[in-house]
Amino acid sequence: MVDTVGVDVPDLDQDPLRQLDDWLEAARAAGDPMPHAMCLATASAGGTPSARYVLMRGRDEGVVFFTDYGSDKARDLGENPTASAVFHWHVPVHRQVRVSGAVVKTTAEESDQYWLTRPEASRRSAVASKQSSVLPSRQVLEDAVSLLGDVAPPRPDRWGGYRIIPTAVEFWQEGPYRLHDRLRYLRERDGWRVDRLAP
Ligand SMILES: Cc1cc2nc3c(=O)[nH]c(=O)nc-3n(C[C@H](O)[C@H](O)[C@H](O)COP(=O)(O)O)c2cc1C
Repeated sequence: MVDTVGVDVPDLDQDPLRQLDDWLEAARAAGDPMPHAMCLATASAGGTPSARYVLMRGRDEGVVFFTDYGSDKARDLGENPTASAVFHWHVPVHRQVRVSGAVVKTTAEESDQYWLTRPEASRRSAVASKQSSVLPSRQVLEDAVSLLGDVAPPRPDRWGGYRIIPTAVEFWQEGPYRLHDRLRYLRERDGWRVDRLAP
């Protein structure tokens, strides 16, 4: 059993992304096989929202994920470079973390570095699949992969990373009978302020 009841401001790291690391590791230690999965919400220029899961693949001054720059999410991010991502770890930690902010592309070097960590078959699939485009059939996709043979393809320009640079990060911890804890960091000029929010 993980002791997660009653989180308060003095319990938190001054840096919300280091705090995210702590909670992510606690979820992993508690048996979550994919604690770095986050639901990523974007919106078009016209304000139409769209959400899907991606995997957090890096954590520095922001939260990094990789995708297809031709995908629907990338179109949203081109029009409206902001996003909100939410992690949820259910049993046994009962926690949620939301990260919101501006989104910038990773450098080509960072994307190359990550690309080379992917299994070669995954690299071929990424090259063959123009993410979010309409496919006439699964066979068309499989044929496109087969055409690549056994090569380890270089990273296509249309594939790479994004970094969410947070301006707000909220930590939610389930409490008894709806008395949950919500602690929200807001970026200020030279640091973060933390407020407790009503659950
Ligand atoms: C657990 C999980 C992790 C995923 N991780 C990624 C990811 O890291 N990058 C990605 O492009 N898609 C990932 N996907 C697929 C996306 O959810 C989505 O189908 C895809 O990115 C296309 O989204 P879009 O059409 O809104 O751009 C993941 C899906 C799941 C369920």
